[in-house]
Amino acid sequence: MIVVMMGVSGSGKTTLGTLLAKALRCEYLEGDLLHPAANREKMHKGIPLDDADREPWLEAVRAALLEAHRDGRDLVAGCSALKESYREYLMDGVPVQWVFLTGNPELIRARLEARTSHFMDPDLLDSQLATLEIPIDALQVDVADTPEQIVDRIYRALTASPEIRVSSSGAGNFAVAAGFVASFIRATVAERGRCLIAISGGETPGGLYERLADTGRYPIPWDAVHIFWCDERYVPPDDPRSNFRMARETLLDRVPCPDENIHPMPTTLQSPRAAADAYEDILRRFLTPDGGGLDLVLLGLGRDGHTASLFPDRPALRETHRWVVAVEAPVEPASRLTLTLPLLTRADCAAFLVSGGGKAEAVATALRGETEPVGAILRSAARVVWWLDSEAAGRIDR
Ligand code: 6PG
Repeated sequence: MIVVMMGVSGSGKTTLGTLLAKALRCEYLEGDLLHPAANREKMHKGIPLDDADREPWLEAVRAALLEAHRDGRDLVAGCSALKESYREYLMDGVPVQWVFLTGNPELIRARLEARTSHFMDPDLLDSQLATLEIPIDALQVDVADTPEQIVDRIYRALTASPEIRVSSSGAGNFAVAAGFVASFIRATVAERGRCLIAISGGETPGGLYERLADTGRYPIPWDAVHIFWCDERYVPPDDPRSNFRMARETLLDRVPCPDENIHPMPTTLQSPRAAADAYEDILRRFLTPDGGGLDLVLLGLGRDGHTASLFPDRPALRETHRWVVAVEAPVEPASRLTLTLPLLTRADCAAFLVSGGGKAEAVATALRGETEPVGAILRSAARVVWWLDSEAAGRIDR
């Protein structure tokens, strides 16, 4: 998602934008840094900018938004974008989510006067307020509360519905997903020192994993990444049907992720049930007692609506306590281990990667939110992202 925090100088774009970027696990772009030196000089002297002054600045901001959007990266930018015409220009080709920071002008003036590190002359506030054209399509936020409260409200509003990104091709879909995952991991590691991800198997995600293995294109601090599995077929780790083997061959053998950070589901213990218990023990070393702490779960969707190895109408969907269970799937290989809904729904971000027309009906049904297991994830996860190619998106109600 590309978010632009807009509003007059002093409305809190930088403070709130930086915090929001942390919450969304992405980079914050300070639009003011893209002003040419001549503009900064003018503002410093208290001379208002005109449209011509703002042109090269808006061009630079738009280029940054466009690049992030094309890469699939989330980005939060701060940019006053006072006029409708500026906003129209910035969102040409980029689906911008505007957040309009507004409030009592006296409060904003007091905050402006209190800050010492900015080139803007506080007297310019009046001219900015006169220039401001109130946006009608923005999330409007009053800036009177504490930054944490405001950002919490913004984050909830922005992530209340699933984010759906449709790419014109399967390859484009993998590239968008890879851009998001790489930037999400970088931001998470920068903030928390590590990133815990659970990945899936099946046919689809190999295209994503192969892209992520391109360490030049997708720089990732692999030594701080821990990889878990959403589900596994109960077959030996070198079996061609093993999800671990697939991830190893497409990604993990090609990137510098330390072996001790790779946590495959065991599949050679005395029973699948014992393996589920053993995996739950491993997860308990990393997660909070309520099952929180996975930063990202990467999921797929089966034509029958299953995700991980949670199949519609099966007893595992009703699991409320255990984090990992052994199941008998209605497809081969039948014996599997899977994370359960109590764990998947507590991840900070759940992302579904789906490609191909054969899944179009399943995607449309899942997104209506009325069927399980996906319905529970849509209802309960803090943030849900869908990456679809145009074929998989073909039946969505829009
Ligand atoms: C598995 C997966 C599973 C997968 C879906 C979609 O082990 O099969 O982890 O949950 O995500 O079945 O699989 P396809 O991409 O193969 O259709």
